[in-house]
Order: sequence, then C-alpha cells, then structure tokens
Amino acid sequence: PSWILLCSFCGLRQNRSVKSMAKSSSLRIVGGLSSAETGDWPWQASLQYNNIHRCGATLISNTWLVSAAHCFRDHPQKWTATFGALLKPPSLKRPVKTIIIHEKYRYPEHDYDIALVQLSKRVEFTSSIHRVCLPEPSQTFLYNIYAVITGWGALTNDGPTPNALQEATVKLIDSNTCNRKEVYDGDITPRMLCAGYLEGGVDACQGDSGGPLVTPDSRLMWYLVGIVSWGDECAKPNKPGVYTRQSEPLIIILVRDYYLHRLQPRPWMITLLGSL
Ligand code: ARG
Repeated sequence: PSWILLCSFCGLRQNRSVKSMAKSSSLRIVGGLSSAETGDWPWQASLQYNNIHRCGATLISNTWLVSAAHCFRDHPQKWTATFGALLKPPSLKRPVKTIIIHEKYRYPEHDYDIALVQLSKRVEFTSSIHRVCLPEPSQTFLYNIYAVITGWGALTNDGPTPNALQEATVKLIDSNTCNRKEVYDGDITPRMLCAGYLEGGVDACQGDSGGPLVTPDSRLMWYLVGIVSWGDECAKPNKPGVYTRQSEPLIIILVRDYYLHRLQPRPWMITLLGSL
C-alpha cells in the first residue's frame, strides 16, 4: 500500500519490522542506544528552550504533543519543538503555543508527570513525521514484554548528550517488583510504570524526560505506553526507569479530549501559557 493511503494511521514506521527491535536490544540510550535514522521514530520530538534540547515529547496529532510535566517547571514559556532524528539541523521546527500541566502534578513529586503541548502551527504528516497510536483505556500491556525508548538524553549519568536520536529496548517491570524495598521501596504510584532491567545497564537518562516508551501490536502499529519521567541516576542495578503510564484512564481522557479537538480546557487543567 502506498504511504498516502496509510497517512491517517498512527504508529507506523517506514520500512521497519520487529527485526529492528531484536537488533536494538543489545544497544542503549544509556548503556547503549544506537543512532536512529530519520523516520525511524516519526513521533519523536525535541522540546527546546533557547534552542537547547531539554526534553523529549511525542506527537499524538497534527498539533499536539505529550510530554512530562516536570520539563516545564523552570521555564513555562518560549519553547519550540523540533522533529527529525538530528537535533542540528532539525527537519522541522514549530513554536509551542500552549502547555497544559496535569492538574494533580506537584513538584517535586513525580506523580501525574504528564503535560500536553500544543504547537502554534500544525505539522503535516509524512512518512518521517507522524503520530503515535494511543492505547484505548481498556488496553493493557503485559509485563515482561519488550518496549522501546528513544531520546537525545545523556549517554551516561551526567554524561554528554548526542546530536542523533538514540534508542534502546527495555522490558516492562510490574509495580510490585518495582516497589520492593531494594528497588523503589513503595514510591511507584498507580500512575507510574517501571521499565528497564533490574541488573542495570540500559535506561533513559537526563534529557530523555517527556519522551516515549512505545510497544508494537501484532499489526506493527506502535503504541505509546509511557512517558520518560524519573529514575535514581541512570542504568543502575535495581533502579529501572520510571514512566508515566499512558493507560491510566484520567490521562487518556485528558489526552483524548484535546486529541479529538472536541473540548475546551476544563477548570481542572492548569493552563500555564497561551491564549486559551
Ligand atoms: N528526569 C530526567 C529528565 O529530566 C530523566 C529521568 C529518566 N531517568 C531514568 N533513569 N530513567 O530528563
């Protein structure tokens, strides 16, 4: 089928199969992410403040991105989003118009670490810039399945940041395990999802925040399962990455309302910026 016919679909990667997942499983974001090529992860965006990459984000429609609330703590305004596998030069750039922080997010806690970001001008989808699929509220993901994280975050804790998008394969870890004393000792709330390896070595890191944790379904459409949120340093044993869950109903509803361009902001959403 031609790309044009598939253009309204979500979560498609051009010329990619699950084979590339096996390939990337030995690599990392920390602990080794390979350089991704243009169009490999078409929904990945970079959120930049003063033209410096600060956080990742995920394209969910022509005008909306999902990211992490904690990214906007210091600088609630003047952000831009860029697309394409390289930070410099990006293949596309858009000013940000509105940032909506989940009403229950309270710094410095990590709970409800989700934000919606509206672009000032829509992006037309192409094979290399395209939205991800959002899970249905009822859609559950099994533990121990593999998922992929992508981002321009640090290659090691406090280490250098790459210009090319990195990717790594991680495993979803159930919350009981993640809440064990030697892991995060009860800090994992129902809004959070752990992914990585208890043995350490592969993880997201500083600068990956807000970016996607995605998993393919049987048709090879990629779904957003989580948003990079926090972790105890990066890639340490017993300290896997923690993600904001996408299947949490409240979050899905928050995203959906906007995604479908149907509803006005509700009073319980705090609008930090923009003309809403
Ligand atoms: N909070 C960090 C950021 O702002 C990233 C957290 C992810 N850390 C991890 N070890 N998985 O970019």
